[in-house]
Amino acid sequence: MKTTIAEVGKFVGEEVTIGAWLANKRSSGKIAFLQLRDGTGFIQGVVVKAEVEEMIFQQAKSITQETSMYVSGIVREDERSPFGYELGVTNIKVIAESADYPITPKEHGTEFLMDHRHLWLRSKRQHAVMKIRNEIIRATYEFFNKEGFVKVDPPILTGSAPEGTSELFHTKYFEEDAYLSQSGQLYMEAAAMALGKVFSFGPTFRAEKSKTRRHLIEFWMIEPEMAFYEFEDNLKVQEEYVSYIAQSVLDNCSLELNTLGRDLSKLENIKAPFPRITYDDAVTFLHEKGFTEIKWGDDFGAPHETAIAEAYDKPVFITHYPTSLKPFYMQPDANREDVVLCADLIAPEGYGEIIGGSERIHDADLLKQRLDEHKLDNEAYKWYLQLREYGSVPHSGFGLGLERTVAWISGVEHVRETIPFPRLLNRLYP
Ligand code: 4AD
Repeated sequence: MKTTIAEVGKFVGEEVTIGAWLANKRSSGKIAFLQLRDGTGFIQGVVVKAEVEEMIFQQAKSITQETSMYVSGIVREDERSPFGYELGVTNIKVIAESADYPITPKEHGTEFLMDHRHLWLRSKRQHAVMKIRNEIIRATYEFFNKEGFVKVDPPILTGSAPEGTSELFHTKYFEEDAYLSQSGQLYMEAAAMALGKVFSFGPTFRAEKSKTRRHLIEFWMIEPEMAFYEFEDNLKVQEEYVSYIAQSVLDNCSLELNTLGRDLSKLENIKAPFPRITYDDAVTFLHEKGFTEIKWGDDFGAPHETAIAEAYDKPVFITHYPTSLKPFYMQPDANREDVVLCADLIAPEGYGEIIGGSERIHDADLLKQRLDEHKLDNEAYKWYLQLREYGSVPHSGFGLGLERTVAWISGVEHVRETIPFPRLLNRLYP
């Protein structure tokens, strides 16, 4: 019976055949332990000299790391194995012997691993992170479908710049100038006026010269947008969504969290509602914590966000930032023109901002004024302004950065391990 490692539990006591690679091995004169992987999981194959043909035992002893093969064996329950089963090997058919594999079980430097990302992806830890990423994507679709959202795909090639012009990747669109999308938001606002509640999931490009554990040049963003949703409604969707992701990973990725050594108690309490602090109060808090250099009107950096996050054991919303710090489209607070109805959601444990969102300006005149203040050409935003001319409604939305969220939930230090092929400052290979 041909099967996969994930499915062996259905065949206890039976002989199965698995297409696999050798991840690692140990052997003595009488027994060889093969750590096998097939993409669906990992399992130990035990080859006992006395129980197989001599040729098979010699092959098991000499087989090189990452050699591909068909392995046959009897499935046995094994409580000591994290995967619950092992294989009593009866036969091995090598498909392709592996050359000397560069990534061995010993420690390697980060640059070396990044140069071999195409192979590094095969390791147990990277496998676990990719499975958690996949679960977060799956849970995202499940959550928004359950809540009645429609998935809408905004364009990647755009003519305008929602988050400011400094971080744009420029390209030519025949004779015109075009940019790679840095957010699908403006298009999602148009979609929300057509479909009510919408969400997107797609690649996002930012030419940010930041070399930190939280910055990628190309990352994936989930951007929901909701008609008739005001500031409070927006925060409620965010805390319910983030709680849903955390609980889904706990429910469906226990093996992977275990492989990564994740402290589960840090995820178990991630349930709505989340705490909130206004920007004003955050400035006061930071002064009390000794960050005396921060003045009202300054943006917060990573150390400030971390200090605020450390005061809570759940993600925390920082709300009502100064208008001057935020993009042109954010709705000002009705009681205070100098702050906007926005919130950043800061993850616990120093993982930084995972969501940025706001209520959007729905008044056409105010939006025109803001475009002028930001020196943005009204003509380029004509279609966006028209959304305010034909039955404008209050609406809100947000963007969740997938890789920062995966890093936080997996407990992985740097976002470079949370995307299959990271695009970083100075890295476009492989
Ligand atoms: O706060 P940002 O810039 O928000 C927007 O783009 C809005 N237009 C979204 C919206 O309202 N529809 O980015 C949203 C999130 C951040 O909170 C962060 O998680 C992630 O995107 N992000 C990055 N992730 C990795 N690398 C980068 N360089 C990132 N820049 C932003």
